[in-house]
This record gives sequence, structure tokens and C-alpha cells, in this order.
Amino acid sequence: MDAIHIRGGKALFGETKIQGSKNAVLPVMAAALMIKDVCIIENCPRISDVYHMQQLLTGIGCRVTHIGHTLTIDARNIFEDTMSGDNVTGMRSSITLLGAMLGRVGEVTMAYPGGCVIGERPIDLHLNALRRMGVVIYEKDGGFTARVKELEGAVIHLPVSSVGATENVLLAAVMAKGVTVIQNAAKEPEIITLCEFLRQSGAVIEGIGGSVLIIQGRHELHGTCFTVPADRIVAGTYLMSVLGTGGHIFLEDAPAEQMRSVLQIAEEIGGEIHISREGVDIIAGEHKRALPYVKTEVYPGFPTDMQSPLMSVLTTAEGISIIEETIFEDRFRILEQLKKMGAGIERKGKRQAVISGVDFLLGCEVTAQELRGGAALVIAGCMAFGETVVRNPCFIERGYEDICRDYRNLGADIYIG
Ligand code: EPZ
Repeated sequence: MDAIHIRGGKALFGETKIQGSKNAVLPVMAAALMIKDVCIIENCPRISDVYHMQQLLTGIGCRVTHIGHTLTIDARNIFEDTMSGDNVTGMRSSITLLGAMLGRVGEVTMAYPGGCVIGERPIDLHLNALRRMGVVIYEKDGGFTARVKELEGAVIHLPVSSVGATENVLLAAVMAKGVTVIQNAAKEPEIITLCEFLRQSGAVIEGIGGSVLIIQGRHELHGTCFTVPADRIVAGTYLMSVLGTGGHIFLEDAPAEQMRSVLQIAEEIGGEIHISREGVDIIAGEHKRALPYVKTEVYPGFPTDMQSPLMSVLTTAEGISIIEETIFEDRFRILEQLKKMGAGIERKGKRQAVISGVDFLLGCEVTAQELRGGAALVIAGCMAFGETVVRNPCFIERGYEDICRDYRNLGADIYIG
């Protein structure tokens, strides 16, 4: 069973190029399914979530190739007559295909995506919104079938500005009759990227980047060539690492304009940030300052996906830090693993963690349980004295193209084996 091995306790120096964004490319791949043409997606990361989505698209008749970082999706001929049933049973984790399937063929059967360790991951907002657009949902042995004769534009107010629900409604709205207004839409950069891809393919969308999106449906969509932006969370992960270990790194292509809240936190900890057209340069400070209170928020607030990486860094900050997780209900699984390494962290209620900085972490065997927590354990391993072994690297490979390669570029002593 593979594991990531890190001999830590030394500063990081070096530079690495930031991969394309996982959370931007997945909804774009779903959108390509709606286009009876060929789409070429550049800067597509080679990660297992993309491979999984690729399999699902192939399973419903798309022809998909992924050569280097170029993904080509030919959705001209899909198995429209067999959308429900076996073709889509593998979709449990790709809820982003729901809106696209309804837009393309008007029916889809899938299992409920189900929760994961960070939270229940319900899809009530997705389903309620789609019902307002004329979709009928039938419960079906542990899953559901969604069916619609003709998607109708509607005014959709999202009680929670859910990223996934915004994406699904956007995809359905592009194919719906009439106008759809999404109120309290998510404003994450990945939503902007999806809107830009759809617009480039012929869709008519107003309000991009804001919390009210207005979509005029039924515009003919055509193939396009689109470049996915760099991954702001991967860049943030590596940025946090050097704050933890000390040193000086350069992150080529890091999307600084999407990382304002993360860069601000980095400076509050003591980092020195220099932004250029080429990327972001980070110099760790002499002292690692604790953060009296940080909470995760929807964009442009501090992202929930950066919460675990930040926690790793704060384990050896000078003082007491408090992190509040406001987005997911159970995103503190990494606590126990960090405590095994000597961290002083206690939960305060369901949503807060109190971190009392210690002088150093000690390497040991730890276990990744989900994607960003796993990456945060790699950060802790780079910080810790001695060897750290991170089990279950498969979680990390969902979102990081080659985390060992990138950390070696930054000067870490790390390998997978
Ligand atoms: C997306 O998940 C991202 N995933 C997550 O990144 C990210 O953490 C999250 O947005 C928040 O930014 C992808 O883009 C593939 P939400 P998503 O719907 O869409 C509740 C990573 O590590 N909710 O914005 O699932 C939900 O439980 C992953 O890359 C409902 O209650 O997130 C959560 O508490 C992790 N009902 C909150 O909303 C619903 O129908 C925000 O979830 C939908 C969501």
C-alpha cells in the first residue's frame, strides 16, 4: 500500500508551477456534455477526479482524450436513448453532471452522492431548484431519477450560496426555455470560470462574478477551446507550507487575484508576499504569529478548503489561534493526526478548533481521510523533525497532480512508495 514519506524539519526553497484547477475543470467537463460539438480544454490537471469524470462522460457516449494537459471532449453522439439505468450508475460522486444531463437529454438516474468525512453533503438545494424548473424527481432504490420534458426558466433563490447547486442550476438554465435568475448564487472563481466557458460556447449570461446571475436559455451552444485557470487551493496549500517550514518559494501561475484572503492571512502570520504576472513569491517571516480568530467563509472570505492547511501551519505558531469552520460540519478530522505529531489542538464545540502553538512537530505515521486534510498532513510532515509517513495518498491524488514532485521542486525530501 503506497504512502508518502517525508523527512521534514528544514526550510523550503525553490519554485513550482501550479496545476489547473480541479474545482474549475469538473463543472466545465459537465458543461461540455451539453454541447453537440467538440470542446478542447487546456491546462486540465492530471488528477483522479478528472479521470473519474472522464470515465463517466465516456460511459454515456462522449469520446474523451486527455493528452498531456489537453482534454478533448466530443459530445456529438451520446447514448441519448439509454440515459437512465446502467450508463449512469457510476455517478454517485459527480453531482455536477445532474444539470448537464437534464439539459442534454431530460433524464438521469443516479445514486445520492452521499456524505464524506467532512460532512453530509446533502443535495436538497440542487433538487429543490431543479424542481422549480419543471424537473420531477423520483426516489429509486437508494438513488433517484430526475426527469423533465422541457426545462423552464425560473427565479431561483438559493438559501445557501452553494457552489454545486449554483453550477447545476446554471447548466440547466442554459438549456431552459426563457430566463432564469439565480439569487444568492455562489461567487467562487470556479463559478466565474464556468460562466466564461458557457459564454464562450454561445450561452447568454449576465451578472458574472456577482450573487445574481441572469441566464437567457436556449441559445445554440457550439464547441470551443478553453483554458482552465490555475488551482487557487493547490497554490494556497504550497504557500502555507513555506510559512510552516520557513524559507522562500515561488509559485508559478498562482492566481493571486483569486487568493486575496489567503494572502492576507499569510501576511498576518508573518509571510512576505510579492505578486507578479508570473506568479506569487513568498518569504517566510522570522516569527510565525498565531491568529486570534479566523473563520472560513464563502468567497471572497477565507476558503474552507484552506482550513486544514492553515491549521497545520498554526500548530507551531507563537501563541494561541482559533479557527472556526462555518461551511462544513465536520472538517476537523485532521486534529487527531496532528496531535499524534505533537500538536496542541482542542475542539471547542462543533465548529471551532483552538490551537496552542508548540515548539516543533515530530514525524510519525499519520492517515489521510480526505483530500485537503491529507494535503495538510504533508505540510505538517515538511514541518516536523524526523520522518512522517502519510497513509492513503489516494485521497490527495484526487486533487493534487503530483504533490511529491511539487514539494521536491520546493526542496522537500519526499517520495511516494
Ligand atoms: C464545492 O463543494 C467544492 N467542490 C468543495 O471543494 C468546496 O469546499 C465547496 O464547494 C465550498 O467552497 C467542488 O467544487 C468539486 P457547497 P460543494 O454546495 O459544491 C451545504 C475540495 O476539497 N449544502 O458550496 O459540495 C453543504 O453541506 C472540495 O476541493 C446543502 O445544505 O459545496 C455545505 O455545508 C471539498 N445542501 C455548504 O452548503 C445542498 O444541496 C456549502 O456546500 C448543497 C450544499
